[in-house]
Amino acid sequence: MDNLKQFFLRNFERILVFVILVVAFLGTLLVENTSVVLDFYFLPVLVAGYFLGKRSGLLAAVLSILLVLFSALLFPDRMFAATRIWHDTAAVCGWGGFLILTSVAVGSLYEVKERQLQDLKHAYIGVLEILSKYLESTDPYTKGHSVRVSELASAIAAEMRLSAAEIDNIRVAGLLHDIGKIEISGEVLRKAAVLSTGEQAYLESHAEKGARLLSSVGGVLKEVVPIVLAHHRYFVSKMESDATRSNTDTDSNSDTIPLGARIVAVADSFDAMTTDRPYRRAMPPWQALEEIVANSGRQFDPEVVEVFKQVATRHLEAV
Ligand SMILES: [Fe+2]
Repeated sequence: MDNLKQFFLRNFERILVFVILVVAFLGTLLVENTSVVLDFYFLPVLVAGYFLGKRSGLLAAVLSILLVLFSALLFPDRMFAATRIWHDTAAVCGWGGFLILTSVAVGSLYEVKERQLQDLKHAYIGVLEILSKYLESTDPYTKGHSVRVSELASAIAAEMRLSAAEIDNIRVAGLLHDIGKIEISGEVLRKAAVLSTGEQAYLESHAEKGARLLSSVGGVLKEVVPIVLAHHRYFVSKMESDATRSNTDTDSNSDTIPLGARIVAVADSFDAMTTDRPYRRAMPPWQALEEIVANSGRQFDPEVVEVFKQVATRHLEAV
């Protein structure tokens, strides 16, 4: 059901174009006044060009023309009156030409808008990279951590074939996941000994602090906030959660943790394990990979771990 919902949401514009085309085609078959129905075909072409680009707009225009030609074959009298055959043929040809011109014009506007949006997005991600590098520059243990987490998390998301928008949100969440640490005392952050339970809880509150900080930014980071908030929460399968809920203080499960947070959790833990910390030495990458796999289904989402294994193995073999 979830897959169906995701498929619907991801392909909403395509489904909409398809439905309008079908309605227009049925109208061509059922309505006698075809000139009214022909105008209706501009709608799928405009929707396809505006939301999906020039190629899709052009495809919708060509499909519309083919559908009209097909209905003309079925009901030639309705489309081309015997007394004014040349007039009607010229009208249909003109209609087809305008349809194609409309798709190209709207599709071109879409592409200009997309290019500007991409430039803005690159600039925005670049500024966030600089910000995260600056925030980590004073701590030798976490230097470059956010950029590495962001790269690994977006590689996992791309391997899982998430949409471009979802991958961008995960990339940004990777850069900002620890931003709440600016409100955590440096004494706790750099403590060389193992933290007490109270200190651990205080340190982990950086996820909430970070989410609160980012919430104030508004709409641009709307999808990033839940990922930052949940990036330290444990994935616990429903069965195991039910069995252990009575004697554990965690209430995490896959329904409440966004997929982006489950991906960032794996990337974050892998990078943390493979870099030196004040209280321990870095773990070799292969050992860290085994550690992540050993915690699959408890701390980490098994589906994410499977994809992470492929991404990490490819990367480690290439080094
Ligand atoms: Fe964190």
